[in-house]
Amino acid sequence: VQAPLIDPFARPITYLRVSVTDRCDFRCTYCMAEHMQFLPKRDLLTLEELDRLCSAFVGLGVRKLRVTGGEPLVRRNIMEFFRAMSRHLGAGPNGGLDELTLTTNGSQLARFADELADCGVRRVNVSLDTLDPDRFARITRWGRLPQVLQGIEAAKAAGMRVKINTVALKGFNEDELFRLADWCADQGHDLTFIEVMPMGEMGEEERLDQYWALSDLRARLGERFTLTPLAERTGGPARYVRLEETGQKIGFITPLTHNFCESCNRVRITCTGELFMCLGQEDRADLRAPLRASQDDAPLRDAIREAIARKPKGHDFDYSRRHVAGQVSRFMSHTGG
Ligand code: GTP
Ligand code: 5AD
Ligand code: SF4
Repeated sequence: VQAPLIDPFARPITYLRVSVTDRCDFRCTYCMAEHMQFLPKRDLLTLEELDRLCSAFVGLGVRKLRVTGGEPLVRRNIMEFFRAMSRHLGAGPNGGLDELTLTTNGSQLARFADELADCGVRRVNVSLDTLDPDRFARITRWGRLPQVLQGIEAAKAAGMRVKINTVALKGFNEDELFRLADWCADQGHDLTFIEVMPMGEMGEEERLDQYWALSDLRARLGERFTLTPLAERTGGPARYVRLEETGQKIGFITPLTHNFCESCNRVRITCTGELFMCLGQEDRADLRAPLRASQDDAPLRDAIREAIARKPKGHDFDYSRRHVAGQVSRFMSHTGG
């Protein structure tokens, strides 16, 4: 049995996010540029290599695995990977996974929902920033809302819990706050709002213009509902409240207004085998080389431990004083959020 991963700030690393592709069938404006240069296929880890890499992390105490992208469901044969990872669910000699899950834009969910559920996925997070079809097409640059709603429907029908992820964007979905909340309450979905983070290329002016602080959003919710903070966590960064009038649960992910780095438990790997120790920092470690150099996992585990030993304290994102600090140049789609 391997010693668990603990970072320099005594934070146990138990949550791995794996981006299985940098490609996506949408181009959400805050996540990707319109014309993205995607990675050549030869740079990608194979599904077998991803399996070996993730399994090494499970052996080192990771309990929660979230598959992201780009859009994970556009990667060829991705169900083989989910099927393979499902073997870690439940107990195992080196521990095992408590949760296998994914974050998706929902476009392919109708096709894959049953199979995902069959692989032990009990919860999916679906990105949805608006319920207006025209706005939806605008923010995703060409996405079709009905397709995503069908996907969400299918996930629910397959017995999975759905959490809607909504990036709070000033002047874009401000006026949909209650509509989104009501729709989620109606459909039985959880809802989480996210503060937009400064990643990728965008002018400072534009960034500041689109930023909507969740402290303000929360205050507006509080004008109509009684909010009771909940102690429960999902192992992710969101903090939850319950709306007493409807019983619905709403989450807030607030990297800007309320930094949550001190309870960070996660790292992320990209589809080329780079390990990012923090979403908001440029430092990374190459795990593809040790992965390919030997069939023995010992050097790979050493490389992982070495990287965890330099996990930074947190991000430096800051929008206060009408200036954007701490931004990182890679796009969110690179590491999957
Ligand atoms: P749950 O398991 O439902 O709690 O999921 P999650 O919130 O961990 O994952 P999801 O993929 O739904 O991510 C939602 C948002 O949280 C995305 O915008 C991520 O970028 C953001 N996020 C996740 N982890 C971190 C983190 O360590 N730091 C920051 N700043 N944001 C994060
Ligand atoms: N800031 C905050 N959240 C973002 N996401 C993508 N880009 C950003 C950003 N710049 C969200 C997506 C998805 C999740 C994985 O990350 O909407 O729900
Ligand atoms: Fe694709 Fe998700 Fe980025 Fe939208 S937010 S472009 S769905 S990776």
